[in-house]
Amino acid sequence: MNDRKMHPESLMMSYGYKPELSEGAVKCPIFQTSTFVFKSAEEGKAFFEVAYGLREKREKEELGLIYSRLNNPDLQILEERLCLWDEAEECAVFESGMSAISTALLEFLSPGDVLLFSNPLYGGTDHFIKQTLTRFGIEVMGFYPWEQDQLPELVAASGKADRIRMIYVETPTYMGPLWQHPLKLGADLVLYSATKYIGGHSDVIAGACLGSHELIARVKGMRTFLGCMAGPWTGWLLLRSLETLKARMDIQAEGGPCVLPGSIGCGPRQGHLRRAMPGRRCHALLHGEGWRGRSLPLPQPFEAGEARGEPRKH
Ligand SMILES: Cc1ncc(COP(=O)(O)O)c(C=O)c1O
Repeated sequence: MNDRKMHPESLMMSYGYKPELSEGAVKCPIFQTSTFVFKSAEEGKAFFEVAYGLREKREKEELGLIYSRLNNPDLQILEERLCLWDEAEECAVFESGMSAISTALLEFLSPGDVLLFSNPLYGGTDHFIKQTLTRFGIEVMGFYPWEQDQLPELVAASGKADRIRMIYVETPTYMGPLWQHPLKLGADLVLYSATKYIGGHSDVIAGACLGSHELIARVKGMRTFLGCMAGPWTGWLLLRSLETLKARMDIQAEGGPCVLPGSIGCGPRQGHLRRAMPGRRCHALLHGEGWRGRSLPLPQPFEAGEARGEPRKH
């Protein structure tokens, strides 16, 4: 058992939590506290130096908790557990999907940069990109799924290719973190509205951003100063939700075809969905194995008639 690699769904009950630090409580308590106590002023100073990037953590140095805008046990354990599904190095959790998206975009974009984004986008993201980022001198350029083959030419013709700093691709919210792993497809960051399947109980709004240590350290830096981290109660609710994530998503996938108005055409690479919906033909959600440089994994919109099982026109 000890040397057996456990699946994320098994680890959702215990991973990252040490009961001995919480009076032996079998479940992680809610650490509803703003501030943490230091053993001495010197210890507090040492924690702050690392938190604010004034020095690197020393080898074997144990860093304690400071203030819940920077870190909190419910958030840290949640972040460690979310990493397991996407096999990400690090995660930052937020009080909403929108705050995860806006914080990541603000951290990596500067005036003069160009953001390339897929259309159509969720309304909040669309507004933030077109109305807010542009007020700060960031140029934005949208593209549609049917343009993906011509994208390199379109970008070259725009004369903005050398200023493209980020590419934002939105895929259906309901695929992650079980059936779609953008980091494995070459994305640098994956962003979630955890309000949806991750939360799963319609009682919490939350978001998450996952990626490498280096990139998430930057995202967490911006999160600290915007103050949009998830609160302890949100963190605890999501820990509760993660315990049943796999079971909920599997059952919902099984039930999905029952509410679809007929079988739907399926491309050759939709193994995940086909496994999730055994015996059913399913919609082509992702195509293209990698998106760095050439092909982008884009959601293909439903076409009229497709839901009734008629073939796609192109
Ligand atoms: C694709 C997508 N992006 C972002 C969001 C925003 O997430 P939240 O409502 O958690 O802020 C949503 C919510 O519906 C969404 O579907």
